[in-house]
Amino acid sequence: MLYKKEIFNFSASQAMIPDVVLKQIKKDLFNWNNKNISIMEINHRSNYFISIVESTKKYLRELLNIPLDYKIIFCFGGARVQFSIVPINLIKNKFNSADYVNSGYWSNNAINEAKKYCFVNQINAVYKENNVIKVYPMDNWLISNNSSYLHYCPNETVNGIYIDELPNFHNHIVVADCSSIILSRVLDISKFGIIYASTQKNIGLSGLTLLIIRNDLININKSKVIPSAFNYQYLVKYNSMFSTPPTFTWYVVNLILKWLKKQGGLSSIEKINKIKSSILYKIIDNSTIYHNNISSTCRSYTNITFTLSNSNLHELFLKESNNAGFLNLAGHRSVGGIRISLYNSMPLLGVKKLAKFMYNFSTKYS
Ligand SMILES: Cc1ncc(COP(=O)(O)O)c(C=O)c1O
Repeated sequence: MLYKKEIFNFSASQAMIPDVVLKQIKKDLFNWNNKNISIMEINHRSNYFISIVESTKKYLRELLNIPLDYKIIFCFGGARVQFSIVPINLIKNKFNSADYVNSGYWSNNAINEAKKYCFVNQINAVYKENNVIKVYPMDNWLISNNSSYLHYCPNETVNGIYIDELPNFHNHIVVADCSSIILSRVLDISKFGIIYASTQKNIGLSGLTLLIIRNDLININKSKVIPSAFNYQYLVKYNSMFSTPPTFTWYVVNLILKWLKKQGGLSSIEKINKIKSSILYKIIDNSTIYHNNISSTCRSYTNITFTLSNSNLHELFLKESNNAGFLNLAGHRSVGGIRISLYNSMPLLGVKKLAKFMYNFSTKYS
């Protein structure tokens, strides 16, 4: 049997938690901060917990260099919740429209949800040329003049498509679902109106969604129809604690951010992330059995997708990789294939070991 240290979890959802963070959690479960009380028992209104809340926000501001005219809030549930909560908060009435860029699975889901609340002007961002998947430059996106905002997903976790270009649309409010790339690279927050990301990939545990929101967007829909617990205005006013928050998730988020700072912040982590993905793309491109037909200009560096030459090899790859300690490599159920997710906490060692496995597998079966 393999021990935990030899197991590498490449899941696209719940990511690995660094060993130092797991050790800290183990200690704090019984005796948080030498208070002889478990972290799970701490009341969200206590000064103890408020100190965690405030230091979490401080880490985020430092790491992402968040300008002062943006608020940081945490909302209940995952990113899917924002697929409805964004239009509910930003649309003034159902006759308003919003631009939605479709680049894959998650942005398409956001579109279907938004259609319940407003008229959606859909912009297709992805096309195929000579069987290679590409993304149109933002200049070609057909944005409407009178839309309330533009929504897009810079990294399509399921499809492995990444939009590197940053938005620069005058006077347009840009909302970005950054669930699978938040904190993985340096980012100019001022290009965005709202950034949201669920916490289970690069920020810690599931249960919360981080929102970075420009002050002027907090109180757009002034009608009373917004559910109070999801009203951005209330979330800001009550410091994200209008309703009792998942305190344990918040605490883990805090530890992950502290760990990230110790790694040297986002410029260091971005360099490592690019190295990690380039090691694996090289193996894929040099093999005859792995196939990825996404243009190198828009390949995701956090979610690497590929197929194998036939279904027997696919099954064999999953079986042998799992036995070797590389977990959760099956592609999303909607597209199949293989997907390797490389969130911040995946060590370079895990990637090098997987690359070696993939190389040996391809020489054995090609
Ligand atoms: C880009 C993106 N958006 C939205 C979601 C949905 O997130 P959640 O499951 O937290 O609701 C995911 C989940 O993988 C995702 O990757």
